[in-house]
Amino acid sequence: MYQREFRRLEKLENDRAFCRHGVRHLLDCAHIMWILNLERTLGLDREVVYATALLHDIGKAQQYETGEPHDVAGERLAREILRELPAVHAFSAEDIDAICTAIRGHRRAREDAGPLERLLYQADKASRACFACPPDVRAACSWSEAKKNLSICV
Ligand SMILES: [Fe+2]
Repeated sequence: MYQREFRRLEKLENDRAFCRHGVRHLLDCAHIMWILNLERTLGLDREVVYATALLHDIGKAQQYETGEPHDVAGERLAREILRELPAVHAFSAEDIDAICTAIRGHRRAREDAGPLERLLYQADKASRACFACPPDVRAACSWSEAKKNLSICV
């Protein structure tokens, strides 16, 4: 299911001028989340951090095709994917809930967000090099100026 949704999204974003949601973005998010986890000594599990980052935009193709917000579709798809993992790679029910909650909340900074959700929100923004975006594309971007990442540091 992950590969199916990932390939579907790649095709849908083939001509997209704005930031895409491919493997580069997903891995940048994972790496930034992991760095923040270490810097803040949060003690989050590496597998959980990487699974969260790699799954967080999995609902984007669904959003393009049906209009369902990708945080909502992503939570549902991520839960299905995580529940279908073979036993050797399985996450606990608690970890699945934390991952899916973070995905559901990653588009806005919620006051009651847990540490995983906070890291995902911050890394998702920090992974975007808005300061290097071509002016015409940046001007047409739906992100507010306050949301755009204008720093090379996290
Ligand atoms: Fe993202």
